[in-house]
Amino acid sequence: MRVVEAFRGAFGADPETVWHAPGRVNLIGEHTDYNDGFVLPFAVPWGVTTAVSRRADSTIRLLSLQAPGDPLTLTSHDQATGWSRYVVGVLDLLGDRVRGADIAVDGDIPQGAGLSSSAALEVSVASALNDLYDLGMTPMEVALLGQKAENDFVGMPCGIMDQAASALCEEGKALFLDCRSLGSRTIPLDLASHGLRILIIDTQVHHEHAGGEYAKRRAECESAARKLGVPALRDVTDLAGALDLLQGVERRRTMHVVTENHRVEALVGLLRAGAVTEIGALLNASHLSLRDQYEVSSPELDVAVEAAVRGGARGARMTGGGFGGSAIALVAEDRLRSVQDSVTSAYAERGFQPPRFLPATPARGAHRLS
Ligand code: GLA
Repeated sequence: MRVVEAFRGAFGADPETVWHAPGRVNLIGEHTDYNDGFVLPFAVPWGVTTAVSRRADSTIRLLSLQAPGDPLTLTSHDQATGWSRYVVGVLDLLGDRVRGADIAVDGDIPQGAGLSSSAALEVSVASALNDLYDLGMTPMEVALLGQKAENDFVGMPCGIMDQAASALCEEGKALFLDCRSLGSRTIPLDLASHGLRILIIDTQVHHEHAGGEYAKRRAECESAARKLGVPALRDVTDLAGALDLLQGVERRRTMHVVTENHRVEALVGLLRAGAVTEIGALLNASHLSLRDQYEVSSPELDVAVEAAVRGGARGARMTGGGFGGSAIALVAEDRLRSVQDSVTSAYAERGFQPPRFLPATPARGAHRLS
């Protein structure tokens, strides 16, 4: 394994443990997690592998195969910058329960595709330390630790979806998660026997303002919930009545969150019934809602979704936080070529840089490699 060789080269010994944690795509349930709602992500076949050993002192030595140069040596947590904040954030939260560590990480998640490489890094490191120090954390506790590292140490106010997907997903399945109770169930996602695939369309564009817009959406939802007198938008049962009490942006955000939660439940119902071919309409409706009510899409994502459907996809939507990143399309195997051609030529017509296509097969969540 490449990361073990790099570890040995940098630190002169074998790592005590090696863990892998994947990135994710979200099938449906977007911007619902921080509204205490429902999500349905699945893990992708790419992720972050972490090799780690304990140290007797409190020094952290960190090597990333994606960041050339010598290992970073940190003697205090506030020395962390850039990618190392995701790792040091995890160590910081573990406090006295861990000492220093030698850590090497290797990731193969396509960069900038919005497939949650940061959650994979947090969960990979936290899982390895959990194992190494026998901390007894459950996969959900590992996910919550990763989320807290990102919220408090990195300063990104994300919900729990990405870390939960990375920690809890199972091969061939999607993860139906209630982001309030944190109860979850895996739902078989049997695409192949229906002759279907989920195609990731990576726009290769990430808009700079995404972080600020994300925090703004969160604040708008919290403000709407306060006006409606409910703990979170998840609790809105009378949508029409709620919309009468709100205006403008808060009305649109509420409309999205409430209908998106219903779409997650409807999609889960279809999957349970074995009707995976029928989920396309829900994907399309989710995209329109994210574009028009939640306003987190981008021209590249809209063109990808429209061209995929025109090329024969059964449904498509942006996935993840938005403002760039990736869309997903549900495509019959014999339409893969025409869907890709349709998106590629639509991008060329508009002068967008060419998109990248990746096949998404539901993969296994965090696990130990050695
Ligand atoms: C990002 C966040 C998640 C979630 C999605 C939108 O990926 O990290 O917590 O809010 O956006 O669904």
